[in-house]
Amino acid sequence: MKVLVIGSGGREHALTWKLAQSPHLTALWCAPGNAGTLTERLINGEAVVNLPLAADALESLRDFALREKIDLTVVGPDNTLALGIVDLFQSSRLRIWGPNRKAALFESSKAFSQEFMERHGIPTARSGLFQSPVEARRFASSLSGRCAIKADGLALGKGVLLAQSIAEAEAAIEEILVRNAFGKAGGTVVIQELLEGIEISLHALCDGRTARLFPIAQDHKRIFDDDKGLNTGGMGAYCPAPFLSANELKSVGDAILNPWLAGCAAEGINFCGLLYPGVMLTADGPKVLEFNARFGDPETQAYLPILKNDLFEVLSVSVDGQLDTLELVWSDETAVCVVMANQGYPGAIIGKPPIEGLESARALKSVKVFHAGTVPDSQGKTLASGGRVLGVTAWDTDLKSARIRAYDACSRIRFEGMQYRSDIGSKGL
Ligand code: AMP
Ligand code: GLY
Repeated sequence: MKVLVIGSGGREHALTWKLAQSPHLTALWCAPGNAGTLTERLINGEAVVNLPLAADALESLRDFALREKIDLTVVGPDNTLALGIVDLFQSSRLRIWGPNRKAALFESSKAFSQEFMERHGIPTARSGLFQSPVEARRFASSLSGRCAIKADGLALGKGVLLAQSIAEAEAAIEEILVRNAFGKAGGTVVIQELLEGIEISLHALCDGRTARLFPIAQDHKRIFDDDKGLNTGGMGAYCPAPFLSANELKSVGDAILNPWLAGCAAEGINFCGLLYPGVMLTADGPKVLEFNARFGDPETQAYLPILKNDLFEVLSVSVDGQLDTLELVWSDETAVCVVMANQGYPGAIIGKPPIEGLESARALKSVKVFHAGTVPDSQGKTLASGGRVLGVTAWDTDLKSARIRAYDACSRIRFEGMQYRSDIGSKGL
């Protein structure tokens, strides 16, 4: 089978690495990939090939898939899905894994998601939708200013502002609705009450009718230890996180996924792909903060090392609508992914320093260094070219041992200005 993975981050390196282990594969491309995807090999010895096409070059990607007779395309990034790549490929009879444009609305429109949750009784925060700054301010003040103010559309993960006071809420409303900080994405805002509790990531693989829930993962969104500093794309993740027993996870999953599946059926939404609800475990029970319509990053880097199934088979049954025939099987281990980020992140990065020590980290047992923002240079060195640079992942019998292993690997890697959190997974201990 010939497979194409679209994207260039840590998530896509993890997908590529796991797909490369499938005996079904004869060739694997990653578009555009990074310096890590480039080092992967299939079981048959073939090297993974990086294809110099951007993840949003939909027509060129389609033309390549037609020319090479790709058997399955796997889409990583939200933006590519929101642009409608799945509809485009399907209209050329190409097999592609991911939600179509309508189904991707769960992520590309927070207003759509919020209204859907309310229509179908999915537990979520008290909220309102606003285009008028006056009404937005009135609602925020009814919450005493303690609210999350969210641009409706995709905003590179930056479209959520949290306020603790009326002054902060007014400043956030001003920024999004009046000064248009997120352009068209912020023409409408969703304002939610501020929830307190433990935040977890749920992932469910879907085929339009069936949803298969993964174990719980936990991300670390802030740049500094103890959840201090600016929000980022995610500074590390681990899985499973110990906050719910197996029975509790099942009932949380049912409370969200049963009405969600029924709502999709009632509204003619055929969601084939990965639903990733961000959930707050509050004193009043679990509440959905948002839906994403793709694998989490860095959660994927922690999930895939402990998934025992063949990922090609898993994604194939999802595309074919036969998920009811498949059980996901997870190892008993815990995986921890520590993100090593560049100087300047989450703002603009300062340079593209060479990375040292990758060989030494790679030699460790039960460790995988996923690349996120890296490129090879002409002398064979690997350069840190993105904000999040590496996802250093380790797995072991328990969280404590997996953390030790992951941080041992991190200590062997060096690049100028590197930054990483030292407390990934500590909430789970
Ligand atoms: P989102 O992109 O909607 O997940 O929001 C980004 C981050 O903001 C989330 O990961 C939470 O940490 C935080 N957040 C979002 N909505 C709320 C809320 N209603 N209450 C508390 N924190 C929130
Ligand atoms: N883990 C954050 C995200 O994937 O959006």
